[in-house]
Amino acid sequence: MYVPENVVTNDYLTKFMDTNDEWIQERTGIKERRYAHRTKETTTTMGVEAAKIAMERAGVTPQDIDFIIFATLSPDYYFPGCGVLVQRALNMKEIGALDVRNQCSGFIYALSVGDQFIKSGMYKNILVIGSEKHSFGLDFNTRSRNISVIFGDGAGAVVLQPTEDENRGIISTHLHSDGHSAEILAMYNPGTHANFWQEGLADFDDAEIGEMFESHTMIDKAQNRPYMDGPEVFKKAVVKFPEVIMEALNKNGYTTADIKMLIPHQANLRISHFVQQRLKMKDDQVYNNIQRYGNTTAASIPLALCEAWQEGKIKEGDLVCLAAFGSGFTWASALLQW
Ligand code: ACO
Repeated sequence: MYVPENVVTNDYLTKFMDTNDEWIQERTGIKERRYAHRTKETTTTMGVEAAKIAMERAGVTPQDIDFIIFATLSPDYYFPGCGVLVQRALNMKEIGALDVRNQCSGFIYALSVGDQFIKSGMYKNILVIGSEKHSFGLDFNTRSRNISVIFGDGAGAVVLQPTEDENRGIISTHLHSDGHSAEILAMYNPGTHANFWQEGLADFDDAEIGEMFESHTMIDKAQNRPYMDGPEVFKKAVVKFPEVIMEALNKNGYTTADIKMLIPHQANLRISHFVQQRLKMKDDQVYNNIQRYGNTTAASIPLALCEAWQEGKIKEGDLVCLAAFGSGFTWASALLQW
């Protein structure tokens, strides 16, 4: 894992918007988050730092990696993706690089794609990265305070390799989506939609084609910043998290009591607590670190996985469940034998 040095407290955010520490902690559990250096760090560079540690711990060098999967919603460039920038930054061979755009469930989707490549025998060392530089794209304004206080920057990475040991590895992954709620948690602009799916997502003024991608009104109205209907996300998340966790357990003949550690995507501490209660799991079975990093979207699961492992809470042979829900909506789980 890699997180930027700069710690941003809830109090600091009151410089930009009408909010307060009590509201943020009560509704989200977040005490502080990290923000990347404005110009010296990017989504890719943070991913590279996490990747270096993952490769060292896995005992491989950049030259051993034969495929890169990079999950993010805050890429360095609109295109190309961050995967190729990692390939360049680490002087890797001319291997394949894939970017995954599945927001909060991006890391599990990326892990699942990597798992299929490993199981098919196509690749032997896959670098999977989740990284976000949210601080660049948030609207630091009271009109967006329900979103902007939640997100933070950081990165996590893993190296996937095949094993002959039948008692270790990714047991199964479970991926879902429901595009009916695509506009509930989204950043619409700049994009090519031209209000096709829903009226009012973008103000083009009287722009002609070629000038509709972005307009001054769009910028003035913060239509180029993330939007979230928080209560709707909450309602759906607390149903889909338990559902997809139980799907993974039922498929493999386990119960919640068998889980050594559940690593939920760090969306919001209230959501994690709700899920834990609904599944009747104990405090020491669920890992949360949103209090210190905020919601880091594609990076949140590898950040939490890394800290749980570093703290000795995950040991060889333990059953670990990863679960995520987010924009799309998309949701997913992965069951691992560590
Ligand atoms: N500081 C102070 N007041 C705020 C803030 C803030 N940062 N944000 C919103 N408020 C105010 C609103 O203006 C509103 O005030 P009003 O009633 O006077 O108009 C009041 O708080 C309630 O606003 P809501 O937007 O309805 O806020 P809600 O109580 O739903 O809490 C929250 C917002 C915490 C986001 C909640 O909806 C929630 O927990 N949603 C779950 C979604 C989530 O956590 N998403 C995280 C990212 S998505 C993901 O990872 C899946």
